[in-house]
Amino acid sequence: MTHIIAVTNQKGGVAKTTTTVNLAAAMARRGLSTLLVDMDPQGNASVSSGVNIRELEAGSYDVLIGETSVKDAIVASTNGYDVLPANDDLAGAQVDLMEFDDANLRLKKALKNVQSQYDLIVIDTPPSLNVLTINALAAAPKVLLPVQCEYFALEGVNSLLTTLAMVKKALNPQLEILGVVRTLYDGRTGLAVEVTKDLMKHFREKLCETLIPRNIRLAEAPGHGVSIFEYSPRCRGALAYKALAEELSTRLQIDN
Ligand SMILES: Nc1ncnc2c1ncn2[C@@H]1O[C@H](COP(=O)(O)OP(=O)(O)O)[C@@H](O)[C@H]1O
Ligand SMILES: [Mg+2]
Repeated sequence: MTHIIAVTNQKGGVAKTTTTVNLAAAMARRGLSTLLVDMDPQGNASVSSGVNIRELEAGSYDVLIGETSVKDAIVASTNGYDVLPANDDLAGAQVDLMEFDDANLRLKKALKNVQSQYDLIVIDTPPSLNVLTINALAAAPKVLLPVQCEYFALEGVNSLLTTLAMVKKALNPQLEILGVVRTLYDGRTGLAVEVTKDLMKHFREKLCETLIPRNIRLAEAPGHGVSIFEYSPRCRGALAYKALAEELSTRLQIDN
């Protein structure tokens, strides 16, 4: 069985991409055959995986519009998993997908062709609730929601929950939140405690125990085109993502 997780939050800068990349890397290190799907036209997850997006022959855009088979677009990363990369062509998908009746299901259908080769597929999404995000949510039964513990952290969570409910009803009855993970965490601030209280109220047992601390190494690794485990395997950021992979494996009942 293949587990598919969409990492999403329409706020930018909450560590969606950092979480997608390092979770995929940590899961690959746990022995899972893993595919990272980049659905953000910025292509940050692809770059963080060592892919040169300026020289891409094909990527998630070509797959969504049916120009390329998903098999032909997948490449190896520097981090032990495979990648379906993205570049800014993907920004045009909003418009180009409108001509398809199944615009919201293009990714789900494409992934069906390779799914059996993977234990886990992790999807990075753009900072908006657009057709690319809907495709990710329609393809994945599970959602991982990174939240930065700052003012306005919960702003937008309501519209995200409304979108999840809408996608669940119309496209993907199995859709559910796998976890809410606190990122860029700085326990010295009272704010972190306040936001944690709010998150517990909203999400209860969905709130992950693992905290991802603010750690400069996590911000540096993408510049080297590698995950935290290649860049600085013993830093706090690496240990945190390793722990997150363990916690989520338990939730998914993956036993290895
Ligand atoms: N735990 C962390 N500690 C320090 N910097 C981080 C951490 N997580 C993410 N960052 C940095 O914060 C910025 C936003 O993270 P990113 O993963 O790109 O967010 P998103 O994909 O939600 O927009 C990036 O520059 C990233 O390197
Ligand atoms: Mg991102």
